Amino acid sequence: MQESLETLREEILDRVAHCGSEPELDHLRVEYLGRKGRITLLLRGLREIPAEERPQAGEQLNRLRQLVEEQLEARLAELKAREKERILREERVDITLPGSRWERGQIHPLTLVMDEIIDVFLGMGFEIARGPDIEDDYHNFEALNMPKDHPARDMQDTFFVSQERVLRTHTSPVQIRVMESRKPPLQIIAPGAVYRHDDDATHSPMFHQVEGFMVDGHISFADLKGVLTHFIRRIFRAEIKVRFRPSFFPFTEPSAEIDIECMLCGGKGIPKDQQVCRVCRGSGWLEILGAGMIDPQVFRFVGYDPEKVSGFAFGMGVERIAMLKFGIEDIRLFFQNDIRFLRQFACL
Ligand code: DAH
Repeated sequence: MQESLETLREEILDRVAHCGSEPELDHLRVEYLGRKGRITLLLRGLREIPAEERPQAGEQLNRLRQLVEEQLEARLAELKAREKERILREERVDITLPGSRWERGQIHPLTLVMDEIIDVFLGMGFEIARGPDIEDDYHNFEALNMPKDHPARDMQDTFFVSQERVLRTHTSPVQIRVMESRKPPLQIIAPGAVYRHDDDATHSPMFHQVEGFMVDGHISFADLKGVLTHFIRRIFRAEIKVRFRPSFFPFTEPSAEIDIECMLCGGKGIPKDQQVCRVCRGSGWLEILGAGMIDPQVFRFVGYDPEKVSGFAFGMGVERIAMLKFGIEDIRLFFQNDIRFLRQFACL
């Protein structure tokens, strides 16, 4: 008995000392001190040994039990301390490091230009209308005089959401939506995002347009010229030269494209260093707007009588105007959100 207790003691102390985790320690506790633990069973077995040996054996067993209990406790405390140390070491925070700062934001250059465009038109008595970005075929094409097989549909590089729905390729469908629900006189601008399957230095798959139109009893091409010339001279500068050039859009007749003199070469086409101007490619002019008198067919689609009303419409790309105003050569800069680019517009 003496010897086997000694061996048991050695064994237990050794196992406790090598125990590496709390669950392992619990396991040992059960193995030796649990209801069917080895020491527990030995204590229970005291009844069977001769009475004269019992007190001494009992005392030895109790001492062993107490020792095991103490060792388990001690090892547990050790493991806990070690774990705490590990956490402190691994999760240490260097409070002397400088904190991370929030960059101060400012208004995005496109928003600046958009707001400026809107302001000029509000000043002329225009009102703002909006339409959905996901548009149906009818409003985006059909009612703007682009029937199913019209070649102009190809020019729009459309993103289709389904057979009948598209991401609007221009803001012109807002014309239709407003005229469907209201009667003239109307003097509206419709700013917003538009989408085309196009992606390079001057085209972005999402960009912004401002559409505008005016409808009443006797609106003429002279009104169109007056409004747009005033707009251009407010957005660029008062003396800038403006040119109206015949063009074609399915929803206007007659149609025009409006150019301003090139701001890099001053309309000369060839700048001082004698190379062809890279902005206007030598023409001396930059196209900035499409416009025209609203086609009678469009009026019929919305239930207006083309004999009784007339109107003009126009559309422009906001990115293009911002690029010309600020001399930005790559449209993608607007959408990369590089703080070094954006910060340059802070003071505007
Ligand atoms: N919707 C045309 C486009 O996206 C722009 C445009 C041209 C709008 C002439 C008009 C217009 O209202 O009269 O390219």
